[in-house]
Amino acid sequence: MTWHTLCRTDEIAAGCARGFVIGEGKGRLEVVVVRTKDALRAYVNSCPHQSTPLETFPDKFLNEEGTLFVCSTHGARFRVEDGYCVSGPCEGKSLVSIALDVMDGSIRIQV
Ligand code: FES
Repeated sequence: MTWHTLCRTDEIAAGCARGFVIGEGKGRLEVVVVRTKDALRAYVNSCPHQSTPLETFPDKFLNEEGTLFVCSTHGARFRVEDGYCVSGPCEGKSLVSIALDVMDGSIRIQV
């Protein structure tokens, strides 16, 4: 496991999410970081239904309220707080959570 610095904390506003790509080739991993009302959280950007990335357009992950991730392929919805799927074809499954911390004003994840 290695810590990877993604961006500064002020680059993700409240109620917004941003996508990142870590590594290359077989080690490539797509990640999404969201700022909920009280915390920053990171997940693997892969829908549990068919393992596709959640977004169609860059950084367009959330519903209008910023409370749910919406998979653009078949519309599954996941709580931003814990990645749990509340509706759609993978209801009851969850996004894979990634360890995240903040150091010197920067967001880091451990993968
Ligand atoms: S791939 Fe996400 S809902 Fe089908």
